[in-house]
Amino acid sequence: MTIDQYADQYMPSMGGWCSAPKAKKIHQYIVQRGLKRSLEIGVFAGRSLCAMGIAAKEIGGSVTGIDPYTYQAAADDENQTNRDWWSKLNYEEIYKETLRHLHGLEIHDTVYVGRYTSRGYFHSNLYPHGGLDFLHIDGNHSEWNSTHDVCMWVPEVRQGGVICMDDMDWESTATARRLLAKQAQFLEFVDETEHNCAFFQKL
Ligand SMILES: C[S@@+](CC[C@H](N)C(=O)[O-])C[C@H]1O[C@@H](n2cnc3c(N)ncnc32)[C@H](O)[C@@H]1O
Repeated sequence: MTIDQYADQYMPSMGGWCSAPKAKKIHQYIVQRGLKRSLEIGVFAGRSLCAMGIAAKEIGGSVTGIDPYTYQAAADDENQTNRDWWSKLNYEEIYKETLRHLHGLEIHDTVYVGRYTSRGYFHSNLYPHGGLDFLHIDGNHSEWNSTHDVCMWVPEVRQGGVICMDDMDWESTATARRLLAKQAQFLEFVDETEHNCAFFQKL
């Protein structure tokens, strides 16, 4: 399946948030710059992860997606409104939906999904440190967790690698954005209509 078919026809049936322009832009960066080793923090049903996977398959790369699929992680340091929203989900079903998409799109050999918190994966024996080419930060958006993700994962990206950060317009991600700007140069927003998601190049 091409990225246009995925983003315009397949992806709208999936749970989650990634827009078609964002999926296409992620794909474009990975393919055009040959970014072979990608990591996503925060998978949900796999909208952005599958865009990364389709791109990685085209260039012989690989993708790791990290998401614990638990209320505990999703609600950590969040406000009550968000805690209530995250409390209504069936996390096992969302995880299964992700795996179904990876198989349906025939990218299950390219994409690995690990059920860890980003911190848990970072400290696990599974993670080979350093040398990331593409990083998508889209996990827990609270101030503590988004800042922790930037401080923990951005140094893992190689110089010249690309970082995509979502929900740039949230008050809770302001600290994370400020610190990201010290380590990476702003490249562009997804497009004129989507200023909440931006791409950066690691300094
Ligand atoms: C905004 S959603 C991700 C959206 C997804 N990238 C998409 O394209 O639709 C955030 C996800 O982060 C996950 N999450 C929460 N805490 C996390 C943590 N500590 N580490 C990794 N993922 C986490 C949640 O379970 C949730 O699925």
